[in-house]
Amino acid sequence: MKNLIIAIDGAAGSGKSTTARLVAQRLKYLHIDTGAMYRAVALAVLQNDIDPEEKDAVEKLVENLRIRLRQNNGVEVLLNDKQVTDLIRRSDVTSIVSTISSYERVRAKLVEEQRAMGKNGGVVLEGRDIGTIVFPDADIKLFFVADIEERARRRCRELADKGEHVDFETILRDIKSRDYFDSTRNISPLKKADDAITIDTSNISIDEQVEKVLSIVMKKQNGKQLVKE
Ligand code: DC
Repeated sequence: MKNLIIAIDGAAGSGKSTTARLVAQRLKYLHIDTGAMYRAVALAVLQNDIDPEEKDAVEKLVENLRIRLRQNNGVEVLLNDKQVTDLIRRSDVTSIVSTISSYERVRAKLVEEQRAMGKNGGVVLEGRDIGTIVFPDADIKLFFVADIEERARRRCRELADKGEHVDFETILRDIKSRDYFDSTRNISPLKKADDAITIDTSNISIDEQVEKVLSIVMKKQNGKQLVKE
């Protein structure tokens, strides 16, 4: 069996992270959560008291950061060798991550690391620009979409599970503004690659998403042409 490069792109709450994690587990592949890497930079910006709007300062900071993903029953995120897996999910990180991920040198550094981690295959990479920029020649490219209200409901549930109660309208507004920012920025905007297969997750369960992806993987391994939906 060939060790594939699987690229999953999509907006926040589209289901791509959970699916990427479960698919990677089933295939015994590495799960590379690229959003977590951008979040780690955002956390470092906060920890160093840098104004996220100060592009030069953020770009300078990123040069000296060591961001690693460690597979340990899920992905652990290490920032300068410290475990920050939970910290990077905080809402103050979420509220600045779009800004810092629009900076050219931040992207250049993280894209280079993502390519190095994925180049030998056996990886599921998920993010916004995997199929378009990071691995335009990925073996399988998927683009996850979902209805915006369903995405907001998922995010509400996710936060509630962690004990953070944020009202639905606030989350909906936040998702809309992140979508807008992520898809209109100049560098590597969230965009479906022309040859990506779209998977609409609005009305399907996580299990169904995973099975869908695995069936695409099987087809690819059997040398069948993938059909775009
Ligand atoms: O997937 P996420 O919500 O954890 O991603 C956090 C942010 O990082 C999101 O606002 C967009 C950005 N991001 C990006 O610009 N490129 C990627 N490949 C992954 C995430």
